[in-house]
Amino acid sequence: MTLRVEDLHKSFGGVQAVAGVSLEVAAGELVALIGPNGAGKSTCFNMLNGQLRPDRGRVVLKGEDITGLPPRAVWRRGVGRTFQITATFASMSVLENVQMALLSHRRRLFDLWRPVAREDPAEALALLARVGMQAQAGRPCGVLAYGDLKRVELAIALANAPALLLMDEPTAGMAPAERVALMELTARIARDSGIAVLFTEHDMDVVFAHADRILVLDRGRPIAEGRPAEVRADARVREVYLGTGATHGGH
Ligand SMILES: Nc1ncnc2c1ncn2[C@@H]1O[C@H](COP(=O)(O)OP(=O)(O)OP(=O)(O)O)[C@@H](O)[C@H]1O
Ligand SMILES: [Mg+2]
Repeated sequence: MTLRVEDLHKSFGGVQAVAGVSLEVAAGELVALIGPNGAGKSTCFNMLNGQLRPDRGRVVLKGEDITGLPPRAVWRRGVGRTFQITATFASMSVLENVQMALLSHRRRLFDLWRPVAREDPAEALALLARVGMQAQAGRPCGVLAYGDLKRVELAIALANAPALLLMDEPTAGMAPAERVALMELTARIARDSGIAVLFTEHDMDVVFAHADRILVLDRGRPIAEGRPAEVRADARVREVYLGTGATHGGH
C-alpha cells in the first residue's frame, strides 16, 4: 500500500477540523476526499504533506511512518503535490521550469551540494510530451493559458518521480471541459506509472468520473466511503451535499 492513514485528528482551538480519518491509497489508484466547505479536506492534506502535525494518528508511506515529518522530508520520500496557486516561474520557459524540477530531484537522490552540469533537455521534453506540452516547451510560463499551466505543474510534480501525488482542488478555476481533460490526463499517468493519487475536488462530475474510491467528510468526520456508485447512492452524502437528494453541481 503506498499510503496508509490511520485515525488522524487535528483541532484548532475549539474547532475539531479532522476527527478520525483513516484511508488507504494503492499504487495507480485515484482516491477522492470530498465534503462541503470546512469539512477538513485541506487540513488532512496538510497533515499528509508535512505542513501540519496531527494531534493523533499515523501517516505511513510505503511502510514507513512519516507522521510529523517536515514538508521537505516528506517531499524527499516521494510525496508530490500540485498547488492550487500555480508555483511555476513565470519568466522562465516551460522547458526550464521542468529542467529545474529534474535538477532538484537529482539533488535529492544523489548529492545536495554537488554542482550540477547543464541539463540535457531530453528528459524534460519527454515529461512535457507526457502532459501534451512539448510544442510549448520554449514559451515563458507567464504567457500560458491557465489549463496549460496546470499541465506544466503536473510535469513538475512528475519530475520528482512521486510515489504519491496530493492534489488539493487541482482543477479549481478551470472551465468544465478543461477540468475533465486534466483529470483524464492525471488518471492515465497515475495508472501508467503506478502513482497513488489523493485529490479533493468540488466538481462532483469530475469526482464520480475519475475516482476509483471516494471518502466523504463532514465536519472532520468520515461519513461514507466506497466506489463512486455507492457513494452517489448514499443517503447521508446526499443530505450533506444539497439536502435535495442530488449530488451534482459542486460548491
Ligand atoms: N489554521 C487554522 N486555524 C484555525 N482553524 C482552521 C485552520 N485551518 C482550518 N481551520 C478550520 O478547520 C475546519 C476545516 O477546514 P479545511 O480548510 O480543512 O476544510 P476544507 O474541507 O478544505 O474546506 P474547503 O472546501 O472550503 O477548502 C474549518 O472549520 C476551518 O475553519
Ligand atoms: Mg480546502
